[in-house]
Amino acid sequence: MDEQETDKISAAKFSLKYLQKGMKLGLGTGATVNHLIKLIAQKSLHHELNLTMVSTSSQTRRLAESLGLTISELDSVGQLDLTIDGADEFDLDRNLIKGGGGALLQEKIVASSSDSMKVIASMTKKVDLLGQFPLPVEIVAFGWNTTQKRLKDLFKEMQFDTIECQIRRQGQSPFVTDESNYIIDFYLGRIAAPKLFEEEINKQVGVVECGIFSGLCDEVIAGDSRAQVSIF
Ligand code: A5P
Repeated sequence: MDEQETDKISAAKFSLKYLQKGMKLGLGTGATVNHLIKLIAQKSLHHELNLTMVSTSSQTRRLAESLGLTISELDSVGQLDLTIDGADEFDLDRNLIKGGGGALLQEKIVASSSDSMKVIASMTKKVDLLGQFPLPVEIVAFGWNTTQKRLKDLFKEMQFDTIECQIRRQGQSPFVTDESNYIIDFYLGRIAAPKLFEEEINKQVGVVECGIFSGLCDEVIAGDSRAQVSIF
């Protein structure tokens, strides 16, 4: 087990204490949430606590179902009590960058439909300012190059020095999300005002959703390499 996995497993284990009987639970996406899903299955918590669970990606659904968990549709469940998800970066105000696994759109829809969103992550994801991790922006496939240019122009207007970006690929072809869109990853370095930035990006035609999550997460549970957990 490498250090990062110890971090992630510790955070996932700690988050089990937030699960309560009869809860409607959103399951995020990524390696850390995969540990949580495995723990729920191993301890049979889905039966014991009678959990109703919704997933944020086809990959999460596949893993959960392969372990015997039942995944319900968000539209039939409605408002959720809690979503537990991972993150690619978090700051001390609990702003996040998400989408490294390509699932940011469903993740944001599910988090926005939850009374509470908690993030489980390695402490290595903590940053002073978001932006060292490339910011994923999900855009519609039609005219993607034009949308990419529009976003680059916006970032130029917003005084970013370097605006490097690339369309996410899977082999030779663009990576296609669960909602049949593309993702552009923007290398921005420093995002000083995440909320404003999220709003500006999401106003652009062709953009479906961006990977900044501001004002959604109420707690980050970060595990470190010594299996200690800190709460932010
Ligand atoms: C998926 O699109 C991302 O938002 C994930 O939540 C994030 O990448 C999680 O990272 P880990 O794989 O480190 O848990």
